[in-house]
Amino acid sequence: MRQTIVFIAALVLFVLLIVLLFFFGRTINKMTLTTRTVDQENVKPNAYHFVLISEQFDNPYWRSVEQGAQDAAKERHVTLEYMGPFRSNIDDHLKILDQAIAAKVDGILVQGLNDSLYAPVINKAIERGIPVITVDTDAPSSRRLSYVGTDNYQAGLDLGKEVVRILRGKGRIAIITGTFGTTNQEMRVKGIKDAVRDADIQIVSIRSSQISRIQATEQTNQILSAYPDLDAIVGTSATDALGIYDAVKERSNTHLKIIGFDDLTQTLTLLNEGKIAATIIQKPYWMGYRAVNLLADVKEGKTIQPRVYTGTQILERKDVIGR
Ligand code: BGC
Repeated sequence: MRQTIVFIAALVLFVLLIVLLFFFGRTINKMTLTTRTVDQENVKPNAYHFVLISEQFDNPYWRSVEQGAQDAAKERHVTLEYMGPFRSNIDDHLKILDQAIAAKVDGILVQGLNDSLYAPVINKAIERGIPVITVDTDAPSSRRLSYVGTDNYQAGLDLGKEVVRILRGKGRIAIITGTFGTTNQEMRVKGIKDAVRDADIQIVSIRSSQISRIQATEQTNQILSAYPDLDAIVGTSATDALGIYDAVKERSNTHLKIIGFDDLTQTLTLLNEGKIAATIIQKPYWMGYRAVNLLADVKEGKTIQPRVYTGTQILERKDVIGR
């Protein structure tokens, strides 16, 4: 009798554990993948269904790319679904790309975050007749139809020259970069290194923010503990300069310059206040807008250009003051 009770209790506990694991798995899944489709008027029931896959769903830079893509989708009468991992993570990003291919969507816009990892998956989509355009980050060895975005090496080079100008050719700097192992970030860092090579500028540390403002602050604190009198810290993804600022504002190193990427509202405010020395802006809205238009052109049988650079611009305080 006693043995039976113990057995039943163990069985109940086991079933409970399975149920808990099931719900835990579902929650984790929800946390890593988020998706949004905007209700559009004028979209026919059999309209093309495109997806845009971002590095991080709720990132303000990607919201601009999505806005441009949604505006173009409206004009071209297609449905655009916006998807992305909750946190930047190449495995989750690739999984979403794979799911879009399995769902047989009509076209995909995706970052080619790492050429060798993405080329086989992008090629699989092409073999199945799904056109793919890379946005923001190219996967040049894949069979993607076009790349729409920044010339990332050139942007790094331009930013590096700006660092040389601001520091008058001399100083010690550190770099906070988005994610190690992603092509766009690596190209930007390479550009900065090449630009400062001939100046009297030493890069003492390069750390990753993993596309997180909080991590950028954390990494900056560690860098400043090791090198308290650095001359500048450069951020190479959209929220890095903000994270760097959060760490620097608590310290007394007043001569340290912050140089960043992109034009998030808060970045422009800090630039205006003289707390960020300069930023290089990309055109995320136009990336989304152009890329959806190109996909729609492909569907109409048109030939498209293999590469569309959307351009960048260096912004200094004098460019935004009073704006
Ligand atoms: C990059 C994107 C990245 C974003 C993150 C931008 O500068 O171009 O690839 O996802 O920063 O905040």
